[in-house]
Amino acid sequence: MEKLNAVITGVGGYVPDYVLTNDEISRMVDTNDEWIMTRIGVKERRILNEEGLGSSYMARKAAKQLMQRTGTDPDEVDLVIVATTTPDYHFPSTASILCDKLRLKNAFAFDLQAACSGFLYAMETAANFVRSGRYKKVIIVGADKMSSMVDYTDRATCPIFGDGAAAFMVEPTTEEYGIMDAILRTDGKGLPFLHMKAGGSVCPPSYFTVDNHMHYIYQEGRTVFKYAVSNMSDVSAEIAQRNGLDKDTIDWVIPHQANLRIIDAVAHRLELPHEKMMINIDHYGNTSAGTLPLCIWDFEEKLKKGDNLIFTAFGAGFTWGAVYVKWGYDGKKEQ
Ligand code: UT7
Repeated sequence: MEKLNAVITGVGGYVPDYVLTNDEISRMVDTNDEWIMTRIGVKERRILNEEGLGSSYMARKAAKQLMQRTGTDPDEVDLVIVATTTPDYHFPSTASILCDKLRLKNAFAFDLQAACSGFLYAMETAANFVRSGRYKKVIIVGADKMSSMVDYTDRATCPIFGDGAAAFMVEPTTEEYGIMDAILRTDGKGLPFLHMKAGGSVCPPSYFTVDNHMHYIYQEGRTVFKYAVSNMSDVSAEIAQRNGLDKDTIDWVIPHQANLRIIDAVAHRLELPHEKMMINIDHYGNTSAGTLPLCIWDFEEKLKKGDNLIFTAFGAGFTWGAVYVKWGYDGKKEQ
């Protein structure tokens, strides 16, 4: 059998309409636009504020657009992977709900939890299913409603995060395009620095946990920042080197959008100009598993067949990694 590659054949995305500005955040906590812009780089973020809607709502919008743009019939889809840290429910999976909403009859589906690195893990997982030859159309979604676990009285975390979702179609090809290589890492020693204290099996919800704000994101920012810079830089440099790429042959780096200073540090390490970094943190903030595909959703028209892309992310766990993609089509797919 000919060697199969797993190529990305389209992208769809969705961000909610409500725009939460730095001015509005400055009225909630003791902060200001200047601090948020210089320390993080976020100008505004989108918030899904309609009651009763969760991550699957955004995932559904993104996946519907993806299926439209790629001309995919629901019966053709074999597999759906949803990377999320903010599932609609503890169970069943958000991917199951998505399958129902998209009327997918022949797909199996599961959620993947790797925090802000979730979409990287989903890309490599999908690629392996496709390379096996048994799965022809795989939808991967990064969807997070971060506002559902942000404490809007905590100035250290509330300016960072936003809500959004985006999706890729991954399909087999015998050409030399697609998800070519991945380096994925996990280090559970990161737990104390970035987590939600309650709501899981170690500490189930109770009046005590609610009264003590234990259902929100807890982050020790400086420590996470340090690990994010070194690990994203190291792994991006490693994947570039082992694929014979350098500052001239890398066309784009798609970094997790957690902090503009982290993105700048990765660019510096790879000796890449700012223009080769995909950046949209200013208008969406950190949408966790949503950041990487939302970048492609925003920048799709600039991409050319054969472009060398490096995706990199870092998140709770700790989890991190880099994925090398040879892009498979020119410009924006719209129908
Ligand atoms: O996506 C998952 C991975 N997450 C990340 O990659 C996030 C990594 N961490 C970061 O991006 C940054 O550490 C933060 C944006 C979270 C914080 O920035 P920082 O420059 O590391 O600030 P800091 O925590 O060291 O705080 C510096 C000062 C403190 O005041 P003092 O103690 O020096 O007087 C904070 O109280 O800034 C203060 N501060 C603020 N001031 C105004 C913290 N948040 C704010 C705020 N407005 N919103």
